[in-house]
Amino acid sequence: MRLRNVKGSRERIEACPFTFNEDDGSALYTNKGKWNEIFKNDNPIHIEIGMGKGQFITELALKNPNINYIGIEKFSSVLIRAIEKRELKESEGVNLSNLLFIRMDAEHLPDVFDQGEIGFIYLNFSDPWPKDRHAKRRLTSPQFLNRYQKVMDKAAKIQFKTDNVDLFNYSLESLNESSWTVEEVTFDLHQSSYLEGNIMTEYEAKFVSEGKPICRLLALQPN
Ligand SMILES: C[S@@+](CC[C@H](N)C(=O)[O-])C[C@H]1O[C@@H](n2cnc3c(N)ncnc32)[C@H](O)[C@@H]1O
Repeated sequence: MRLRNVKGSRERIEACPFTFNEDDGSALYTNKGKWNEIFKNDNPIHIEIGMGKGQFITELALKNPNINYIGIEKFSSVLIRAIEKRELKESEGVNLSNLLFIRMDAEHLPDVFDQGEIGFIYLNFSDPWPKDRHAKRRLTSPQFLNRYQKVMDKAAKIQFKTDNVDLFNYSLESLNESSWTVEEVTFDLHQSSYLEGNIMTEYEAKFVSEGKPICRLLALQPN
């Protein structure tokens, strides 16, 4: 998702107290291993990579106040919409102190989080990068799975949802190649027993309204 440049978004992100930015590398990277101090509690930290406009992670944070959430997005023009959602909720008196954002490319995850710091990773409707020469940019490529292992705790899992069957099949192969255990898999989430408790993302709501099936998997890293 890339929106037209939103005027002033970079400056607003810089000034935002609950958003960290890779352009201000020092502040972001010195938090490595100290994210629980930023949240001021010992609750587990779950992240969504490529959160887009933040609907999914904001709803999760509201539902689970005892889990800390960090939404990661590489484009300022998209991230600003998630910031606005959180600001709106807070102006209505809702506490969202368990939700932070980072503007960065997820390839820098191991520079930002320590081994064991992350308890769960959500990947929702990740960009497919259909050309073979771009395969390593897919968020379920072996290269990305390796980065996730550098920050996840032993029991942490990833959940991946997509409408793109080719990307889903590629992801199953990539997980297998990297010796991950796929614990749950469906090619039609909304007709499956895994639907209970599902929170829809912006992309998911659109695809579901068009009658497209949604693929979903849950996977555990190797020991
Ligand atoms: C297709 S959108 C899906 C947005 C949202 N997850 C949803 O389901 O509605 C994918 C998002 O992932 C972001 N993204 C893609 N690659 C990324 C990366 N390497 N690091 C951080 N964000 C990334 C894109 O900028 C885009 O906003």
